Amino acid sequence: MRLLLMGPPGAGKGTQAAAIAERFGVPAVSTGDIFRANVAGLTPLGRTARRFMDAGEYVPDEVTNAMVADRLAEADCDAGFLLDGYPRTLQQVTALDEMLERDGAALDAVVLLEADPDELVRRLLLRAQQQGRADDTDAVIRRRLDVYAGETAPLAAEYDGRRLLATVDGLGAVDEVAQRILAALASLSARPVSR
Ligand code: AP5
Repeated sequence: MRLLLMGPPGAGKGTQAAAIAERFGVPAVSTGDIFRANVAGLTPLGRTARRFMDAGEYVPDEVTNAMVADRLAEADCDAGFLLDGYPRTLQQVTALDEMLERDGAALDAVVLLEADPDELVRRLLLRAQQQGRADDTDAVIRRRLDVYAGETAPLAAEYDGRRLLATVDGLGAVDEVAQRILAALASLSARPVSR
């Protein structure tokens, strides 16, 4: 199973990724988590990424694509993966297509988690109080939402055109949302293939 989980900041990608990945027996690969681990470890990648993350901007495509290519080349991704938060730009879509093509592999589904902006901001401000994540300030949250709307939201149409997209309401209890995702994936895989 090769899955993508997309959605705006605070939609619940990270929260849902672990359970969904476990359900399909594949690793959850979060670009945000890999960047944060590198920031915490003061690696050269972390030093580069931090400038962009703290401002709510995307890390440049060439840096992100190289990092994902390295991660997907690891043995645990051979049988599949769930990518959380990648791709986020058209250039990343192309890069991922090339990585998969090289391996003779293809995506199975793309889940788009949705929630209204007020709820997204509420969740992230709450997380700011609980965890103090550097990019969960009011101004940076707004910037992240704008960057998502400009750069990433249009990718849904691309994957819908490939008949891979399942849109899921991210509002409600975490378990309820997880059940919705599994149901959406089941109905997507039951859909007749168009010719
Ligand atoms: P990333 O860490 O991926 O941040 P994000 O996309 O802004 O998403 P979040 O982690 O804030 O939200 P989420 O949708 O995962 O929700 P979560 O489950 O955490 O990326 C960080 C940065 O790294 C980017 O800004 C960029 O700089 C860089 N980056 C990453 N990928 C990149 C790429 N491909 N290209 C370039 N740059 C990249 O939940 C949020 C909160 O809500 C939590 O507190 C959670 O407990 C709560 N919550 C979740 N579900 C529910 C629910 N159902 N009800 C109530 N609360 C809930």
